[in-house]
Amino acid sequence: MDTSIRLLLVLCLLHAARAVDQSNFKTCDQSSFCRRLRATKPEERSYELNLSNLQISDNAVEIELLNKIDDVSLKFVLTALADNTFRVFVDEIKPLYPRYQVEGSLNGEPQVARLELLDRNNEEIVVKSGENKVIIKAAPFKIEFYSGAKLSAVLNGRGLFTFEHLRNKKPSGDGETDLGDQAPQESEDPGMWSENFKSHHDRKPRGPEAIGFDFTFPEAHRAYGLPEHADRMALRTTTSGGSNPYRLYNLDVFEYELDVTMAIYGAVPVLYAHSPSHTVGVFWNNAAEMWVDITNSKDGNVVSSLVSLVSGQKQEMHVDAHFMSESGVVDLFVFLGPTMQKAVQQYTKLTGSAPIPQYFSLAYHQSRWNYNDEDDVRTVVEKFDEHNFPLDVMWLDIEYTDGKKYFTWDPIKFKHPETMQLNLTATGRKLVVIIDPHIKREGGYFLHEESLSNDYYVKNKDKNVYEGWCWPGSSSYLDFFDPKVREYYSGLYALDKFVGTTKDVYIWNDMNEPSVFNGPEVTMPKDCLHYGDWEHRHVHNVYGLYHTVGTFEGLLKRSGNKLRPFVLTRAHFAGSQRYTAVWTGDNAAEWSHLAYSIPMCLSEALGGISFCGADVGGFFKNPDEELLQRWYQTGAWLPFYRAHAHIDTKRREPYLYNSDVQNRIRNALRQRYAHLPVWYTLFHEHEETGEPVIRPLVYHYPSDLNVFDIDNQLLVGSSIMVRPVTESRASSVSVYFPGGPNEIWYDVEDFKPFRGTGSINIPVSMDKVPVYYRGGSIIPRKDRPRRASTLTHDDPFTLYVALDDNKSAKGTLYIDDNESYDYKNNLYIYIKFTYKDGVLSSSLIDDARFSTSAWIERVVIINPPSGIKHATLKSKKLGTTKLQTTYDGENRSLTIRKPGVSVMDPFTITLQ
Ligand code: GLC
Repeated sequence: MDTSIRLLLVLCLLHAARAVDQSNFKTCDQSSFCRRLRATKPEERSYELNLSNLQISDNAVEIELLNKIDDVSLKFVLTALADNTFRVFVDEIKPLYPRYQVEGSLNGEPQVARLELLDRNNEEIVVKSGENKVIIKAAPFKIEFYSGAKLSAVLNGRGLFTFEHLRNKKPSGDGETDLGDQAPQESEDPGMWSENFKSHHDRKPRGPEAIGFDFTFPEAHRAYGLPEHADRMALRTTTSGGSNPYRLYNLDVFEYELDVTMAIYGAVPVLYAHSPSHTVGVFWNNAAEMWVDITNSKDGNVVSSLVSLVSGQKQEMHVDAHFMSESGVVDLFVFLGPTMQKAVQQYTKLTGSAPIPQYFSLAYHQSRWNYNDEDDVRTVVEKFDEHNFPLDVMWLDIEYTDGKKYFTWDPIKFKHPETMQLNLTATGRKLVVIIDPHIKREGGYFLHEESLSNDYYVKNKDKNVYEGWCWPGSSSYLDFFDPKVREYYSGLYALDKFVGTTKDVYIWNDMNEPSVFNGPEVTMPKDCLHYGDWEHRHVHNVYGLYHTVGTFEGLLKRSGNKLRPFVLTRAHFAGSQRYTAVWTGDNAAEWSHLAYSIPMCLSEALGGISFCGADVGGFFKNPDEELLQRWYQTGAWLPFYRAHAHIDTKRREPYLYNSDVQNRIRNALRQRYAHLPVWYTLFHEHEETGEPVIRPLVYHYPSDLNVFDIDNQLLVGSSIMVRPVTESRASSVSVYFPGGPNEIWYDVEDFKPFRGTGSINIPVSMDKVPVYYRGGSIIPRKDRPRRASTLTHDDPFTLYVALDDNKSAKGTLYIDDNESYDYKNNLYIYIKFTYKDGVLSSSLIDDARFSTSAWIERVVIINPPSGIKHATLKSKKLGTTKLQTTYDGENRSLTIRKPGVSVMDPFTITLQ
């Protein structure tokens, strides 16, 4: 065997089979900049604002910030933005080279707001925007953010601010020296000018350029956010117990561990500090490797830094965060909420919400590595149909390609891809195929040859095309930062270019951290070069984002801008939600991984990325039947619902199990399909308002201290609460009912009511998942089972009206054509349902109109008034009709049969 093939095989096997080897990934101590910044001593820093050199405009104040120790001038700008948001920008006034500023994460230029100067003296200036105030202190440099009268966040309260200016290297005789007159003053860390990790050498031609700063959040009880980590939702204290800071550096970590602060595939540098009275968010728009230390005063062992911060007054609770990044600039956004709901919306407004996805993509997806050939695909779908399992999408992993050459098909196994797709679409299904960013370096492969001849690849430090190893063996990587490359790449998705695809094929972008099997930490060396001469270190965390932008645009162009693209990505950054769904990568078929899928997706949702899911069944290893069933039941309540498995696992399609198991999986799938109108409506509302689709309890019950650490329960919108069973052999689970004695939660199966007064042990069988509707909500469902969601579009709705203590309820329903952008031209209907004083009524929320033949088949009133004999329907088109009613299940609900009214036709139904 040729040695390169042997090496490839070894690398692939290693990659495919090993458990996480933590030594492959850096600790803070092994990363020179993290080591330097984590050890920052405030007494060795001296940053001062020169308040005599200040410019103030209607929206911003610009001040010179002096690094007095090194005599370097920085520019500090504070800008007031709309929606209780401030932006803090710091860069060198005259950098030796430009410093990287991220593009692509923000959803356009943020809207500015008016900034007023309230006070100014030699020591500080006070500015105001709306209800918020900022006190900018000169020496020591410190910024206090007030939300109303409340001090919510302090920047540089602990004096850790560090901005390593670019400089020439001191003579050292190591051959890499560039003599200059700006010799550094700081003590030299061995890794400042080059760094080794395992066998990898990082040349660091620009030397040190790291940035760090601290934030203190007075009164905060918890910090949330900073996805993606395989960890609980509330961020832990990382400054004691030998922990590493949370690391944000997109990495392909096979068999990742749980409960660690290690980086994995995605990086969203947004953090929310939460107290019972308010929430404040902080987002650092920086794409370089980042580490964030968290200190929560509740965890003890924490020296209170607040005593000095808040006029000598001791605060019991607070959270400190220390942000450290390898390069870039300070481009920081502070969201003053004041509620968590508002802070999340402020962040989402800045980075954009997800456009409403196609309806099918919220349904169930079936994947494995790999469906072997066209027959296999056909058989799986047939078996799903035979056993009445709904299914919308079949997925093909890397083996469908001709030798891992993306945009090609294996000529034997997938000889008739179009026919295969037609078979799928004939039953209402779609296909998703994988397209990774590494390109096989093989003569004759059009993509490689065109990329070489057009100079589309990322370069190594010597400016030659970079070569790394990935699935195809020797590969090069498209440089998506070059607009020409993105344009070219998006063109590859054209139906006549990606031969064998139809408009019903959508795309899965994987390995886009990027994953490089033989690279440092399984990724691209930091001294590789991108378009614009940026080193990989400057842009690493947005490589995946730019990849998905190319794909998204390709799918859009392919359909003449008509159909909404569906893209799934592994690597992601702030703003990825505008283009793609994400999944939590290579989890394992273990109960703990099932449990962690909930906090992982909740953190993503707070980070603006609601369309999140985990491989149902677990990627590595074989789930036993119990775990598989529980995974289907849990996955049904996360936004992205896809089963997927490693190539070495046993087949586990639901029809392979006994009838009990099949029934439970079918019920989970059907429950998902029944609630698709709710998911779709929530995605519409997310696009409009930025509110996450799934939410932790703390989002809606922010002052209830008991919910701050609850991340094994979630809210779908505000009306459905789920406590998935993620424990083996559970006979009961503890469910926390929030909202106080006036809040009622109804079990969705028997409508048994529970008051919002705390934890209750709920008995569970294998058939039972604790799911509740909140009293006061109206849930529109489509209860008729079908084999694919695309076949349900004209199906009738059942309205579940869950009454609160005032015997009232409300809800919304959004309907459009499920696939196109016509909704932007007002082709949709958005309906409001209200129930009050025995009358259920519907009305259209706005002027938009869309024609649908869907109608209301049934209304179920949960906790109905007693003594109802019948109901009367009144609508414009149907006039007045008498309807039959029946009480069910110990009078816990009342069913109104066959209103038969179109959802387009506003109606009232009066109970009599
Ligand atoms: C990566 C993905 C996994 C996929 C595999 C082969 O490990 O995370 O989902 O099956 O690559 O493409």
